[in-house]
This record gives sequence, structure tokens and C-alpha cells, in this order.
Amino acid sequence: MTDAARLRIVGLSGSLRTGSFNAHLLRAAARLAPEGVAIEVETIRGVPLYDGDVEAAEGIPARVAELKDKIAAADGLFLVTPEYNNSIPGVFKNAVDWLTRPSGDIPRVFGGKPVALIGASPGGFGTILSQDAWLPVLRTLGTRPWFGGRLLVSRAHKVFDEAGAILDPAIEQALTGYVAGFGEFVREVKAARA
Ligand code: FNR
Repeated sequence: MTDAARLRIVGLSGSLRTGSFNAHLLRAAARLAPEGVAIEVETIRGVPLYDGDVEAAEGIPARVAELKDKIAAADGLFLVTPEYNNSIPGVFKNAVDWLTRPSGDIPRVFGGKPVALIGASPGGFGTILSQDAWLPVLRTLGTRPWFGGRLLVSRAHKVFDEAGAILDPAIEQALTGYVAGFGEFVREVKAARA
């Protein structure tokens, strides 16, 4: 496969926790990605709290600018979201809010970008409400969310071991299918834009 045919997808998990189930899920997705699809595991660590005064005085923080450029250069974005109080965790939303500054850069970073959205929770509903809560954000940013698959990982404390390996073969199979399907979507969008 030529370099041009290889797909580069930036992956972000919305948890800072060392043993995060969502970070485990993102790393597993990267491991299970098919030939020709690379999910680069990135982090929201280092993104400060959004403060309009800081932006006005100092501009965009270096870590935010770096992440923006990585997403802009990627063929797709793979979001793995926890759920807090039936919605998007503040730390994840805050990071994405910074990535949308200045707003004139939104088309460069997010415009037409294929986006995958999955999540893991120890509860029984597998982040269904936080995944839904992301949809207006993804629409506002002009992204292309992929609706061809859905992955809600519930009872996450029983799905991963401490090192992040997936213990449940059904979840591994579902994740493999999800990543493959998203990869096909990213390839189609890239071909249509070429
Ligand atoms: C939670 N958790 C949670 N889980 C869920 O399924 N629905 C919810 O509404 C909430 N609400 C919630 C609020 C707050 C403030 C915290 C800290 C936690 C539990 C959450 O899913 C659990 O802590 C996960 O382990 C978080 O994801 P990571 O850090 O494992 O990726």
C-alpha cells in the first residue's frame, strides 16, 4: 500500500484517569485497526481550562495549536467519550472547545472531517446519553459523524483487564467491525474530496 493510500486518524479519549476504560478502548481500537488504517492515540492532557482572557492576551496555547494541526492533517477523528451525569464530561468538552478557537479555524480543523464516536462506562447504558450529547457539537463544527455503526461498552469494569486488554470476545469483535467500517467511511470521504 502506498503512503497516499494509508489513512491517518487521530484518536482522543475524554478521560485523564490512568486506568481509564475509555483510554483502554481507544488503544484497543488502534490495535485492531485494519491494514492501511492508523489510529494515532492522542491525549487531551495538557489542554488548560478555556479562558477567554488568556486567549485574548496570549493566543492559543501551544498544546492546543499542536492538536489542532494534527486533527487538520488527519483523514478522520476518533472520539472515545466517557459519560458524566448523563452528558459529556467537562474535561473533554473543554478540550474540544479550545480546539475550536479561533472560530475561523473550525473549517480547517473540523470541516467535513469524518468522526467516529464510541464510549465505555461501568454502568448499564454504555455512554448512550453522552454520545447523543456530542451530536449537536459535531453538527455545529461541520463534521461528518459516521452513523454506520454504534458501540456502547457497558459494564466496562468487566470488559478490560488492568493492562487494558479486552476480556470479552464479543466486544473485541464489535470494536474490530466498528473500526473497519469507520475506516471504509473515511476512505470514501477522502476519495470524494480528492
Ligand atoms: C460518572 N459516571 C457515570 N457513568 C454513566 O454511565 N453515566 C453517568 O451519568 C455517570 N456520571 C458520572 C459523573 C461523574 C462526575 C463521574 C466522575 C463519573 C461513571 C463513569 O462512567 C466512570 O467513572 C468511568 O470509569 C469514567 O470513564 P473512564 O475514566 O474510565 O474512561
